[in-house]
Amino acid sequence: MQWGMKNRLSRIFDPVSKKTVMLAVDHGYFQGPTTGLRDLGKAVAPLLPYADSLMITRGALRNWISPEMNKPIVLRVSGGQSILKELSNEVLTTSIQEAIRLNASAVTCSIYVGGEFEKESLANLAKLVDLGEEYGITVLAVTAVGKEMERDARYLGLASRIAVELGAHMVKTYYCKDFEQIVEACGNVPVLIAGGKKIDEKDALLMARNAVDAGAKGVDMGRNVFQSDNPAGMIKAVRAVVHDKAAVEQAYQVYKEGKK
Ligand code: 5RP
Repeated sequence: MQWGMKNRLSRIFDPVSKKTVMLAVDHGYFQGPTTGLRDLGKAVAPLLPYADSLMITRGALRNWISPEMNKPIVLRVSGGQSILKELSNEVLTTSIQEAIRLNASAVTCSIYVGGEFEKESLANLAKLVDLGEEYGITVLAVTAVGKEMERDARYLGLASRIAVELGAHMVKTYYCKDFEQIVEACGNVPVLIAGGKKIDEKDALLMARNAVDAGAKGVDMGRNVFQSDNPAGMIKAVRAVVHDKAAVEQAYQVYKEGKK
C-alpha cells in the first residue's frame, strides 16, 4: 500500500487499540430522512467527539457538518436508488476528485451479492478501487446480500471475500454466528460490523463485543447509536467495548451512567 493510502487509513484506526468506532450517518442516501437523522447536524454534534471517523455522503457533509471538524471522513460515493425501488441498483455518485476536495480519508460503496444488480455493484467497487489506488484513497466495501439470503457466515463470507478479491481495503459486514470465519477469509483486510436495525442497547453491545472477540477491527454503527435513548452514552459504551476491552455489563453501565 502506498504512503498516502496508509496515512489516510491510519487516521481511521486508533493508534493504540488499532480499532475504530466509525459513526455511520449515510442512511439518507437511500432512506431519506431516517429516524434520528432528520436534523443530522444536531444528531451528530454530541457524538462526534467520541467517533473515530464519520461515514457520510457529500450532501450531508456540506449541509450539516462544519468544515472545521477534524474527524476523518469516510465518504459514501454510491447511490442512485431508494427504498421505493431495487436497492442493489446503485451507481457511483461522487467523483474521486470530489472526495479529495472534501478531504475524505476513505471512500465507500455497497456491493449486493446475490442481488438483482450484483454485477453492476461489483463493477462499482472494482472501479472505485482502481480510482482509490490511483489517488491514494482507501475503499471500504459495504456488503449486502440478496433478499432471500440468510445473513449468515456463508453468504456474508461470500460477499466479504469477493470484496477483498476486488481489492477493497476495508470490509463492512453484519455480525453473525461463526463470524471468525468471515474475518479469516478476509486475510489482512480489516473487517468492521454494521449495527443494523435498532435493537436493545445491551444486545448491541454484546454484538460488538462478540464481533471484536471474533477479530473485527471495530464497528461502523449508526442506528444503534443515534436511535438510542442516550446516543452519547451509547457511543461511549461502544468505545469501551472496541477500544478498552470492556465486558458487556461494564459497557452497559457506561451507557446507563450517561442516562442519569
Ligand atoms: C447503509 C450503510 C449504513 O452506514 C450501515 O448500515 C451502518 O448503519 P447501521 O449501524 O444503522 O446499520 O452502509 O448501506
